[in-house]
Amino acid sequence: MSTIDSVLTETRVFQPSADFVKQANVPGMAAYQALCDEAERDFEGFWARLARETLQWSKPFTRTLDESNAPFYKWFDDGELNVSYNCLDVNLANGNADKVAIIFESDDGTVTRVTYRELHARVGRFANGIKALGYKKGDRSIIYMPMSIEAVVAMQACARLGITHSVVFGGFSAKSLQERIIDVGATLVITADEQVRGGKTIPLKPAVEEAFAMGGCEAVRNVVVYRRTGGKVAWTEGRDLWMHDVEKGQSDQCEPVQVEAEHPLFVLYTSGSTGKPKGVQHASAGYLLWAALTMKWTFDLKPSDVYWCTADVGWVTGHTYIAYGPLAVGATQIVFEGVPTYPNAGRFWETIQKHGCTIFYTAPTAIRSLIKAAEASPDHHPKKYDLSSLRVIGSVGEPINPEAWMWYYNNIGGGRCPVVDTWWQTETGGHMITPLPGATGLKPGSCTLPLPGIMAAIVDETGEDVELGKGGFLVVKRPWPAMIRTIWGDPERFKKSYYPEELGGTCYLAGDGANRDTDGYFWIMGRIDDVLNVSGHRLGTMEVESALVAHPMVAEAAVVGRPDDLTGEAVVAFVVLKRARPDDAEAMEIAKELRNWVAKEIGPIAKPKEIRFGDNLPKTRSGKIMRRLLRVVAKGESVTQDVSTLENPAILEQLGKAL
Ligand code: WTA
Repeated sequence: MSTIDSVLTETRVFQPSADFVKQANVPGMAAYQALCDEAERDFEGFWARLARETLQWSKPFTRTLDESNAPFYKWFDDGELNVSYNCLDVNLANGNADKVAIIFESDDGTVTRVTYRELHARVGRFANGIKALGYKKGDRSIIYMPMSIEAVVAMQACARLGITHSVVFGGFSAKSLQERIIDVGATLVITADEQVRGGKTIPLKPAVEEAFAMGGCEAVRNVVVYRRTGGKVAWTEGRDLWMHDVEKGQSDQCEPVQVEAEHPLFVLYTSGSTGKPKGVQHASAGYLLWAALTMKWTFDLKPSDVYWCTADVGWVTGHTYIAYGPLAVGATQIVFEGVPTYPNAGRFWETIQKHGCTIFYTAPTAIRSLIKAAEASPDHHPKKYDLSSLRVIGSVGEPINPEAWMWYYNNIGGGRCPVVDTWWQTETGGHMITPLPGATGLKPGSCTLPLPGIMAAIVDETGEDVELGKGGFLVVKRPWPAMIRTIWGDPERFKKSYYPEELGGTCYLAGDGANRDTDGYFWIMGRIDDVLNVSGHRLGTMEVESALVAHPMVAEAAVVGRPDDLTGEAVVAFVVLKRARPDDAEAMEIAKELRNWVAKEIGPIAKPKEIRFGDNLPKTRSGKIMRRLLRVVAKGESVTQDVSTLENPAILEQLGKAL
């Protein structure tokens, strides 16, 4: 990762071409500035105008922002609408009925297309089906599905009925699934028999069975199963139903249930610095407004585009930029089931060529691994493919290092496509700091400038603005419509985590460190808390530690992140066993066992890359584990800090050695 000094002196600036600016939705810096000025001048008026122009309301709102119970902000709260109506019916009415909504590219390359008319009908049938089972507004569902048209149908059908969904990434374990079913109070689970990735099938329904066997899921009345592979699955008569049977005989027309603007559209669990993952609760109207607007602003989306976001619907990117945003603006999008390296490292490039993709949105970790792969297998180098259809390329999830940025810009974007490096979070609902492709000059590695209406700033620990170049905490000083509303079932934690008293209680604390250069460009420096970012996935060190100490052999564990060329950060765990420290051969065995254990407790993405065993952990005399020092030894560096406050300084040498 780049150091602060090197990025702040970045001199390369890539301006959009005159041709791009001319056709852009936000054409040039003056147009961007005009929007920012409008928001400065009349904050509520700005948002009210956009909300009226962008969404269709069944009951128009008269109040824009209610700050009376800050930080529990409400937006457009006396208005009513339906999210699925805005994503589907609106497109039938405005001439997009026969436009392709989704090009589904399956793992093996088979393609299925659905038009807006067909998608509307599928959502209508499925929504009618679950309605017939008794599910209604206010209920919660868990969606544990592979990348598929059916996952989008499930999410949209819930939105149509006012059922709050909580999507659980298919890579999470049965245990993680069970915890989310219980926490959100789900009465319905929608899943698939199996998922297919990289030529392999991975069971999903069996994980649901396992979650149920752990107990606590008794409130779930039905498990609806999409048949993806036809693999054998256990079946509980009465409770379990095939998705196609639920849809059978149902009408295509399902009256959308109009909900209040603040009605929770979904809860999505994400990692924090303490305890269990938290359920980030999003509202309906404000969220959809921002999903639609950012599609147009950040991606410069036009009716003729073929848009592709490679994220999974299990993450927020797959919510905002697959399940909701593209449909809300009537886009044609590619939904991809597979992995970037199957059947070979050219899969992304081949898929872009095959479908004439014009806007491509992926994660730095995928870019970095494909740089390596392109070098290793020249036959699948991007230059072997025709990528001339592309016009905007994007990045999300973690800082993109300038080298990877340049490779992406030149090899994928052909030196022609603006790279939109979008900074945002599960909590923000949509893009916050990002270039606008027809306006912003780009600097490799910087997410550049806040979107209009987003009052981002960098402050010190007292909440005071820092000077340019000083660095500090990234905050957002005013609320915005797509913001997190609360943590499901834990409003106190919401306040403490995001609106700390130290910062005055009305300033959103993002949890990232950042800096600004003399042009005012933002540079994200990574998390300031105990959250790791591994391949763009958020993981709490505490979560991994709790998983490790749940193993019968483990007495104590401390987990830290270490910079990693490929995954951004890697998990390193320091473990004290209940028995004597193992010798090297045995340690390898135990480490393997513990890695698999973590995969079972949380999911394979949380597996520590390295585990080191010690007789103890470095602790202060009051018993506090010194993670700061562990971060140093995890990198293989020697400790130069003062260790005189340590109870047991000698332990550092023992833990400094990798297996
Ligand atoms: C990081 C993903 C640098 C950041 C949408 C943030 C980024 C966390 C960027 C949120 C970016 C995301 N540049 N860092 N463009 N985008 N991050 O909730 O640390 O999975 O706080 O949302 O990812 O991760 P989350």
